Amino acid sequence: MERCRRLVREMGEEAGHPLKAIAVTFGCQMNARDSEKLRGILREVGYGEAESEEEADFVIYNTCTVRENANLHVYGRLGKLVSEKRKKPHLVVALCGCMMQEEQVVEKIRRSFPVVDLIFGTHNLFRFPELLLMALSGRKRVIEIWEGTDRIVEDLPVERKYPFKSGVNIMFGCNNFCSYCIVPYVRGRERSREPEAILGEIRRLADDGVKEIMLLGQNVNSYGKTLAEPVSFAELLKMVCRVDGIERVRFMTSHPKDLSDALIEVMAEEEKICRHLHLPVQSGSSRILAAMNRRYTREKYLGLVGRIREKMPDLSLTTDIIVGFPGETEEDFRDTLSLVREAGYDSAFTFLYSKRTGTPAAKMEDQVPEEVMHERFERLLEAVKETAEERCSRFTGRTMDVLVEEVNKEPGYVSGRISHNLTVHFPGSPDLIGSVVPVKLDTCKGFYYIGSRKETV
Ligand code: SAH
Ligand code: SF4
Ligand code: F3S
Repeated sequence: MERCRRLVREMGEEAGHPLKAIAVTFGCQMNARDSEKLRGILREVGYGEAESEEEADFVIYNTCTVRENANLHVYGRLGKLVSEKRKKPHLVVALCGCMMQEEQVVEKIRRSFPVVDLIFGTHNLFRFPELLLMALSGRKRVIEIWEGTDRIVEDLPVERKYPFKSGVNIMFGCNNFCSYCIVPYVRGRERSREPEAILGEIRRLADDGVKEIMLLGQNVNSYGKTLAEPVSFAELLKMVCRVDGIERVRFMTSHPKDLSDALIEVMAEEEKICRHLHLPVQSGSSRILAAMNRRYTREKYLGLVGRIREKMPDLSLTTDIIVGFPGETEEDFRDTLSLVREAGYDSAFTFLYSKRTGTPAAKMEDQVPEEVMHERFERLLEAVKETAEERCSRFTGRTMDVLVEEVNKEPGYVSGRISHNLTVHFPGSPDLIGSVVPVKLDTCKGFYYIGSRKETV
């Protein structure tokens, strides 16, 4: 670190201004959290924060490869950096994250993008300071990718995006191998952090003013199974709720196959746990679910939703759905539409199936033609919109606690979220940011509310 810091200082003197860096995130919350670690390291070695690539002396893209589009986007951004580097020859460009765990991607970058100076993957992020030093001092390309790891490195420096909320990794990797999904190949096997390490981090965050935490894992419901002394996710949640200062606890993502009744109990009992569950269904057809290797049926999923709703009737339920998985027929798709209506989602992330090289689904016959996929996608959006709008409006007229997160584009307004994860915009001053205040939800505009505050004396 020290040597890196000295080098950055010297390079800044040479350039005639203190150096600035930008870390751009693609993909999921895990990647967002990793980027906070990258930013923490960049700050430690002396880089200031740049607002854009144009302003930066160091650019790092933390990439995602879950769908083809994510990859194309990165190539597009890299193309633009070529002209930046012409203007600023001292510009250093780095790539990391999930895309880099794919051999053919690294090969393509090696061949077609000489603009890139440093490449590393998901397993050796903690080596960023050393790799950065190598890239800065040698001025030759540094590439280090690990096939996998069983290590969990604690205590990396972190630069949080929000002072009042934070993600906390509870586990890394995934063992589920859903047949369409690349994540287990690029993130490796499932590894859980020790509960004490998690709780220690959360206590430190609480001391630092954090009120809301989001526990992160590809499948949080299987947390703790591989620990020397196994701890269930429900047990971990209970412990997390005991940390003073933390007011809200969220988590992501729950796989339906591992969601236990004990977890439903804990959610219902613990007031700090937010009234929101993201429960990806992927498809409403049991036949397609089997081909996806999801290991639950439509009936089991709906049964689970029923049990959850029984205990927490006003819970917000959200999901992920893939349209056009290989072999999906019109009938299978209609099963998805009817499930959307039956489950009553508050919102859903809908995706066009994207073929990922190396996954079993990529080799399946009956890939669904593009135009059929697009037509179904539109119909699905319509169905989601209908049910979600109806459901989201259920709190109209009620006063609810809002954690204020940011100023709104609309002058004089701020925005925040209720426990159920719905967004509320209301007139208020920026000094409310980071606090929890009661707001009356006056009107529902589809997926968000416009609210107002009673003036406090
Ligand atoms: N671990 C989480 C999701 C990780 S990826 C879970 O199991 O829920 C986030 C979402 O991307 C998935 O839920 C899925 O809906 C979507 N996705 C993953 N692979 C995809 C692919 N090949 N094509 C389209 N969507 C995909
Ligand atoms: Fe991918 Fe399935 Fe693992 Fe989620 S649970 S990351 S969809 S393999
Ligand atoms: Fe993408 Fe990697 Fe997350 S592939 S969705 S960034 S785990």
